[in-house]
Amino acid sequence: MLGELRAVVGDDHVFDGRGSSYVVDWTGRFRGHTDVVVRPGSVDEVREVLRIVRAHGRALVVQGGNTGLVGGGVPLNGEVVMSLTRMNRVGEPDVTTRQIEVEAGATLEAVQRAATTVGLRYPVDFGSRGSATIGGTIATNAGGVNVMRYGSTRVQVAGLEAVLADGSVVSTMAGLMKDNTGYDLRGLMCASEGTLGVVTRAVLRLVPAHEVRETVMVGCASVDDALDVVATVCGASEAIDAAELMSRRGVDLVADVVGAHRPFDAEWYLLIESSTSDRSDGTLARLLAGRDLVAVADTPARRDALWRLRDEHTASIATLGVPLKYDVTVPLRSMAEFVRVARQEVAAMDPRAEIIFFGHAADGNLHVNVVGADHDHHGAYDSAVLGAVSRFQGSISAEHGVGVAKRDWLHLSRSADEIAAMRAIKQALDPDGILNPNVLLPSEPTA
Ligand code: LAC
Ligand code: ZN
Repeated sequence: MLGELRAVVGDDHVFDGRGSSYVVDWTGRFRGHTDVVVRPGSVDEVREVLRIVRAHGRALVVQGGNTGLVGGGVPLNGEVVMSLTRMNRVGEPDVTTRQIEVEAGATLEAVQRAATTVGLRYPVDFGSRGSATIGGTIATNAGGVNVMRYGSTRVQVAGLEAVLADGSVVSTMAGLMKDNTGYDLRGLMCASEGTLGVVTRAVLRLVPAHEVRETVMVGCASVDDALDVVATVCGASEAIDAAELMSRRGVDLVADVVGAHRPFDAEWYLLIESSTSDRSDGTLARLLAGRDLVAVADTPARRDALWRLRDEHTASIATLGVPLKYDVTVPLRSMAEFVRVARQEVAAMDPRAEIIFFGHAADGNLHVNVVGADHDHHGAYDSAVLGAVSRFQGSISAEHGVGVAKRDWLHLSRSADEIAAMRAIKQALDPDGILNPNVLLPSEPTA
């Protein structure tokens, strides 16, 4: 198999993955092994690689920037790893259609930069933008900080090309705004986590880059106080891009780890950003006038400093050890109660374990990080946190994907009928189960 793969992609792009970074996820929690990492450079090479892997009875895990947080790109059982980072071409943004054509291995940041050159913006954004790839963001339907205004990755995908398990190609790269010609194969690939096909290219939607931007940090006494602020600003302005929630513990930790300055001390922090083309706007500062603990970023450097306190959360938490991570949505009316219940349940399990929350307030999306927990008992923590999410009628997987981490909890958010329908789709498109076999669907059939 190695010889056949080398003949297709070249000697330099096939190697033994043992001991490499390709076998372990970014968090360090999920570790696998593989004797083959292959790095195709084109869609034709992807097709050939799939054909060869399949002929040799092997399975395949696709990897992009390897910044995933749920173990979705790890060869847990010795699967072949296909890395798409060589396929990183970024086309010229089209100002008329407001679209850009990119290869799957392009980083999020490279696409954002290209959009900026013509006064446009790619609105998906999150801290790992420099490494995360577009293919990975499509495979997980990544969200990030601007979902409240612009939607998640699925909404941005105007066209897509993917290679299916049998080497056939599905493609909608014309980027047509209207195209009702049957099943939405493009949408199906979003959030499929590498189980249905290998995304190789996409046409992405861009939005205007509004030049008047306001960024403010607001200190809040409680989660409900923060949600009141979000309701106020979102009710009064259509220009709100982001409303990010952080706890005192998280902000203190980031300030410590990266040596950053906190604008003030508060129980909870909200980082709110708006953008508009209306120079007379100034809405945020006006709406928040009269509140204590409001820091307005009046220079780009101060804006960057405020965002750093938010962006560095994941990396700073990682310095405390490998956390148990939960990426959940709860209805806004239940968010404060969920935070209280989750804290209480984790404390009851082990007083040394600590829980750090941050997330995207307007989406109801919280990142729940349990640090200092005994990973041998992760099932009890999973059950406590995700069980609470389910009781509050939330989602156990908001924007990071299900991956390995949550596959056995899918029934908390999806009915048995829905899981059966998903299995039927998987069976139809990948009958031999060669594409990312360790993720998404529960390991045992759900009755
Ligand atoms: C964030 C990633 C972890 O919001 O989703 O920073
Ligand atoms: Zn997030």
